[in-house]
Amino acid sequence: MKINTQEFKPRRGCEVHADEFSGVEQELIQRVIHARRDIRQFRSTPIPADILLRILEAAHAAPSVGFMQPWNFILVESQETRREIKESFNTVNAQEESKLDGTARGELYSSLKLEGILESPLNIAVTCDHSRNESFVLGRAPMPQTAPYSVCLAIENLWLAARAEGIGVGWVSILDKIAVEKILGLPSGVELVAYLCVGYPVEFRSIPMLEEVCWKERAHLQKLIFRDRWGTPAELIPSRSGEDKPSLPAEQQLTISARAWDKINRKTKPLGSLGMLETLAVRLAELQQTLEPKLRRRRICVYAGCHGVTVEGVSAYPSEVTEQMVLNFLSGGAAINVLARHGGIQIHVVDAGVAGNWPAELLRLSNFFPRGVRSGTRNFFREPAMTAAECRQAIEIGREQVRLAVQAGIDALGIGEMGIGNTTAASALIVALLGFHANEAVGRGTGINDAVRERKVEVVAGAVKKHATQACLPLGQYWLEAVGGYEIAAMTGTILEAAKVRMPLVVDGFIATAAAAAAFDINPRCREVCFFSHRSDEQAHGNTLKALEVEPILDLKMRLGEGTGAALAMHLLDASARILCTMASFDSAGISGALEAQVE
Ligand SMILES: Cc1cc2nc3c(=O)[nH]c(=O)nc-3n(C[C@H](O)[C@H](O)[C@H](O)COP(=O)(O)O)c2cc1C
Repeated sequence: MKINTQEFKPRRGCEVHADEFSGVEQELIQRVIHARRDIRQFRSTPIPADILLRILEAAHAAPSVGFMQPWNFILVESQETRREIKESFNTVNAQEESKLDGTARGELYSSLKLEGILESPLNIAVTCDHSRNESFVLGRAPMPQTAPYSVCLAIENLWLAARAEGIGVGWVSILDKIAVEKILGLPSGVELVAYLCVGYPVEFRSIPMLEEVCWKERAHLQKLIFRDRWGTPAELIPSRSGEDKPSLPAEQQLTISARAWDKINRKTKPLGSLGMLETLAVRLAELQQTLEPKLRRRRICVYAGCHGVTVEGVSAYPSEVTEQMVLNFLSGGAAINVLARHGGIQIHVVDAGVAGNWPAELLRLSNFFPRGVRSGTRNFFREPAMTAAECRQAIEIGREQVRLAVQAGIDALGIGEMGIGNTTAASALIVALLGFHANEAVGRGTGINDAVRERKVEVVAGAVKKHATQACLPLGQYWLEAVGGYEIAAMTGTILEAAKVRMPLVVDGFIATAAAAAAFDINPRCREVCFFSHRSDEQAHGNTLKALEVEPILDLKMRLGEGTGAALAMHLLDASARILCTMASFDSAGISGALEAQVE
């Protein structure tokens, strides 16, 4: 019988209209896609049968070449079988590891957990049956690989559906394929496509584990999109470079900000009831020029530098601690490492001027930037801390980090520091730039006693008095040279560059705030990109924030530096963006708004 294709109508389906899925539903699918992770650490809790079935139904709903549906799912529960497969992993993994022997990357590889075969409650082997049903499969012959490609689509469906149920999936490819096919008894014509570990995870990281340990960064999407032919860029993502995209004119800025306020005011809550989260969300919307701001990809740069002024006896710790702490940051043991891991935040460690010799294996780490201008500043109680050229070099070190962040598609950058003696430099900076008295500006830093504090006041007052005679514009730069530090100047550089590309920039504690004071003096527009993470317990920090007329996000009585406050504040910035993006409005939720006659 001949079918008249003109008259043929599909039996089921729904009318096509653009708003079939609500904004909340659209956001939800994006959320699941971005929250999916490869999981290697599992809890033993079994997966309920009905949930497993739902996940497999999602897999089975995948598209396939010629509707071939070439997949099978082998639920591997037997510990005996899994032990054999784990053996295969151990053998192949040792071979892979040996390819990197003797390198820093090899050490990192050995430390990675790359499977969860035995501890996950279930393994699923997903196979491709190349001869499924018939010899002619519509559309397959020209591209035979489309059969296993189709299986991969089923796997991605399974992965996402599992994620929506709070279940993790880890794909193990470090296996001897032939050996595993034999263990599982696959007949000829059926090949293994994926071996998956499935179960409730210990955690869902917010970024891939390989990114978190700085093995590899996510590529910048813009570089992957071509138009018409290979290599011709297609500019889809708004550029963040200050030169090719000046910030929008004031009236358009106002529009985004006004629209963001309007959007937030329609959310299902009394007006203004989310307090500072609302202002943070609107500021992010303005900076990212979207009503759907995102803080998915976050990074903190920890800048380190040594200070010549320590010879004046102004700190409770010896100068070598700066170098030792850099090693601690790189081995992942410092407070900032813990808080960054918790927040899914990457860390870059930047030597801006540390007195120390870095072992060769550290120099190969992709998150370490040994850019040191000099082995510490000069003693600014006697002479300028650095030359003008050194100061420019340090500022450039900080600017470079913003360019790297833009390339990596980072949504928000934080700055923190480490440098024994740097509260003395920061105090001198705020005395010089904000007109504080040395006695108000000097705190206890790492915990100095009264006598040392008195000496510190003397050093700060003396240095500012001495260098004031030569002061020249811009004052921010002059005072960085005179009494600053290489890590402080680098932070100033990061703020200056962030302002240029409109990157949200989270400023950590007292020292980073002093760097911001210098940046604000050099370019007042830096204010627009800076978020001040917290009010620290260092004596002068609260008043410094007041003098700069900025409001900190948190007050946790912290006084550590390293970017620890910035790491915590990033959670709240992310939370504020999510409120603007995903919270229901009175309209979308069908909830009555306030009675107009009864609101203030
Ligand atoms: C085909 C494929 C094979 C993979 N094999 C392994 C593996 O053997 N071991 C492992 O730890 N991760 C493996 N992964 C996970 C990737 O490392 C991971 O997907 C990637 O780093 C991105 O991280 P995310 O999945 O958490 O977003 C594999 C992923 C895919 C898609």
